[in-house]
Amino acid sequence: MDTLILLSLCLLSWRGIQGQHDNSTKVMDNMLGHKISLPCDVYSHDDSSTPTLQWFYKKNENPTVIYTSGPSGTTIEESDMKSRVNVNKHMHLVIEHTKVEDEKLFTCRVVDQNGKVKESNVHLRVYKAPDDPEIKMEENGIQITDEAVQIGECETKNGYPAPNITWYRNNTQLKTGKDGVVVTNQITVKSNGLITFKSVLSSPVYKTDIYSTFYCEVSYHLSNGAFMKESDRKNITVDYPNTEVKLFVKSQHEIIKEGDKVQLMCMGNGHPQPQITLFRKDEEEPLVEDFLYSWTVSRNDSGGYICKGLSMDDFNEMEAETELHVHYLDPPVLSEKSPFIVELGSVHSVSCHANASAHTDIHWTQDGSTIATGSDLSLRFLDYTDAGRYACVASITGVPGLTQTQELLVILKGKPQVTVSPQHVEVQDGDRLTVKCTAVGNPTPKITWYINGTKVDADVANVSDSEVISELSFLVTQNHLNGRISCKAENEINSSMEYIQLQKSKSDNILYHSNNGTMVPLRWCHIYISIHLGEIHSTLFNLNANRKGNSIHAACIASAPFCRENDYGRKGLRKSSTKNKRRLIEHLVNVFSITPLNGLFRY
Ligand SMILES: *[C@@H]1O[C@H](CO)[C@@H](O)[C@H](O)[C@H]1NC(C)=O
Ligand SMILES: *[C@@H]1O[C@H](CO)[C@@H](O)[C@H](O)[C@H]1NC(C)=O
Ligand SMILES: *[C@@H]1O[C@H](CO)[C@@H](O)[C@H](O)[C@H]1NC(C)=O
Ligand SMILES: *[C@@H]1O[C@H](CO)[C@@H](O)[C@H](O)[C@H]1NC(C)=O
Ligand SMILES: *[C@@H]1O[C@H](CO)[C@@H](O)[C@H](O)[C@H]1NC(C)=O
Ligand SMILES: *[C@@H]1O[C@H](CO)[C@@H](O)[C@H](O)[C@H]1NC(C)=O
Ligand SMILES: *[C@@H]1O[C@H](CO)[C@@H](O)[C@H](O)[C@H]1NC(C)=O
Ligand SMILES: *[C@@H]1O[C@H](CO)[C@@H](O)[C@H](O)[C@H]1NC(C)=O
Ligand SMILES: *[C@@H]1O[C@H](CO)[C@@H](O)[C@H](O)[C@H]1NC(C)=O
Ligand SMILES: *[C@@H]1O[C@H](CO)[C@@H](O)[C@H](O)[C@H]1NC(C)=O
Repeated sequence: MDTLILLSLCLLSWRGIQGQHDNSTKVMDNMLGHKISLPCDVYSHDDSSTPTLQWFYKKNENPTVIYTSGPSGTTIEESDMKSRVNVNKHMHLVIEHTKVEDEKLFTCRVVDQNGKVKESNVHLRVYKAPDDPEIKMEENGIQITDEAVQIGECETKNGYPAPNITWYRNNTQLKTGKDGVVVTNQITVKSNGLITFKSVLSSPVYKTDIYSTFYCEVSYHLSNGAFMKESDRKNITVDYPNTEVKLFVKSQHEIIKEGDKVQLMCMGNGHPQPQITLFRKDEEEPLVEDFLYSWTVSRNDSGGYICKGLSMDDFNEMEAETELHVHYLDPPVLSEKSPFIVELGSVHSVSCHANASAHTDIHWTQDGSTIATGSDLSLRFLDYTDAGRYACVASITGVPGLTQTQELLVILKGKPQVTVSPQHVEVQDGDRLTVKCTAVGNPTPKITWYINGTKVDADVANVSDSEVISELSFLVTQNHLNGRISCKAENEINSSMEYIQLQKSKSDNILYHSNNGTMVPLRWCHIYISIHLGEIHSTLFNLNANRKGNSIHAACIASAPFCRENDYGRKGLRKSSTKNKRRLIEHLVNVFSITPLNGLFRY
């Protein structure tokens, strides 16, 4: 595995074979611990006879023979290298596990038959990369100074040959003599020859060094070039005197209100921080012997606060003061108690006041919607819809999140209020008429129906809260035409009555129930039908149905949105048989759930 050998072969000096003596020196580089093979340039293979050959090295000018070969055989001589050396068939000196001490000049000497002496030299150099540099900056605070004080050490171990260390502050190189910097280096050689390089940095310390970063860089050579390694980046702690303290109030809200979390924080402007005590103004007992005090504030925490700082190096006393203002708002107080029971038709005034740290904004709501602003609310209870949940909402301008609400439940007592629908209706004999009466009142009213003054039973009666709905449905007879229906609503307080006037229909309209429950005369109503009635095989019809002349007309109307324009035309049903007309009506009844009220089936 000779390839492991990082071998760079440079020729320091070279001289050709001149005269009796060869004087050539090769330089060979090798990584520490690796194997190396040193050539013997003066040995020639072609020599048939065994020459006398010797490998030796020189230390203190005295040669130490490592290997001898001659007519009397070969010997690895006694030497400190004996266990690690060998000579191969090319007469190369092979050294295993090279050490630092192997860095020296090796000589191969050959004496041929003619007694001619030839020598070749190999200068062996070994290399070892140093360990990563370790930086140690001063851990204690350093006073600001113009003079160079020791601020850090950088060390790299186990390198060979000696590396260099360079210091950097904020990526700028620090050099002895520049800006008062002094860098002293110390080299230690271990017994195995490896070198520990230590560099001590001394420098003036500036206030800006609070934020400076330092590192060192080790640069070294290996057989294959120059390399470097950087240390971690470190900072130093700079001490400078405290000249003042500052007291801050911190909270997540700009304007502080009751229930907010508040921090009082006091800081000196130097390093190390002074000893800090926080006080409430005019109180002897400190709040805390610390730079920080956190709590949830209430109104009585408003006032002055003091921070006292004592610098421990010069016993300088400093003080700072601040004001804390805590906003508060109490639940509003109303001039009326809830529930507030009032009479229908009465007029009342309610006022609302809230005790607060500043001027309050007051508005009123009814069932959630704002109805008025200002502390006084004037109410005229004309209608049962005026009953409900009122509330006074108080807040302080500019203090978000501080709102208090007081509810006032208004209960309205009074006689019923009645409405009927329809109020006026055209009818004909045989119609089925349905009318509706709605009554609100407190206490809940009862509804009674009268036709022409005679009490009748209602079909449906719905009761919800204070509202009662009743429906009356009956078959119109000759007697009812031009008559009057009354709806009477009654409670413990009083009664109210409303009327529905019936009128004999002038045109014999057919009435039907539309989807929304109202009565619609079946005159020009737009109906979509799809029927298969002989010649009527159409989609959209405008039905003109009345009893006059016993005829029913159905016509397609082009203007309807879902009718094609050229569908315009009239298709008389006049010619249709009564049976077909009847089937059309039945179809209308089935498809549209229309209820013929006045005997359509007679056709
Ligand atoms: C080789 O030459 C150098 C001067 O060029 C001399 O110093 C050295 O002693 C010589 N070495 C031998 C082995 O003759
Ligand atoms: C100095 O270093 C320490 C530890 O790495 C770090 O916590 C601190 O923030 C640094 N200070 C500055 C000013 O960079
Ligand atoms: C080093 O850099 C930091 C951050 O960029 C800066 O605050 C500081 O002043 C610098 N130090 C010096 C001595 O210029
Ligand atoms: C160390 O520094 C010296 C002087 O600047 C230089 O001559 C030498 O080559 C350097 N050595 C390394 C290993 O960088
Ligand atoms: C401050 O108010 C809180 C509650 O609001 C009460 O418990 C405390 O006693 C008050 N402190 C003083 C000094 O009035
Ligand atoms: C309003 O609040 C303050 C502070 O709590 C209190 O001193 C004062 O008596 C209150 N006033 C009323 C009318 O409640
Ligand atoms: C009566 O109440 C029922 C169920 O709440 C409802 O379906 C019906 O429409 C109501 N009738 C009237 C006349 O309001
Ligand atoms: C209702 O009164 C009208 C007008 O007074 C009258 O013509 C009709 O006969 C009365 N009907 C009944 C059912 O009493
Ligand atoms: C009921 O109302 C009528 C008319 O509004 C009034 O004349 C009458 O006095 C009231 N009755 C009672 C008992 O309040
Ligand atoms: C009920 O339906 C008819 C016919 O579709 C329409 O004319 C009327 O406006 C509707 N009434 C209401 C209250 O929606």
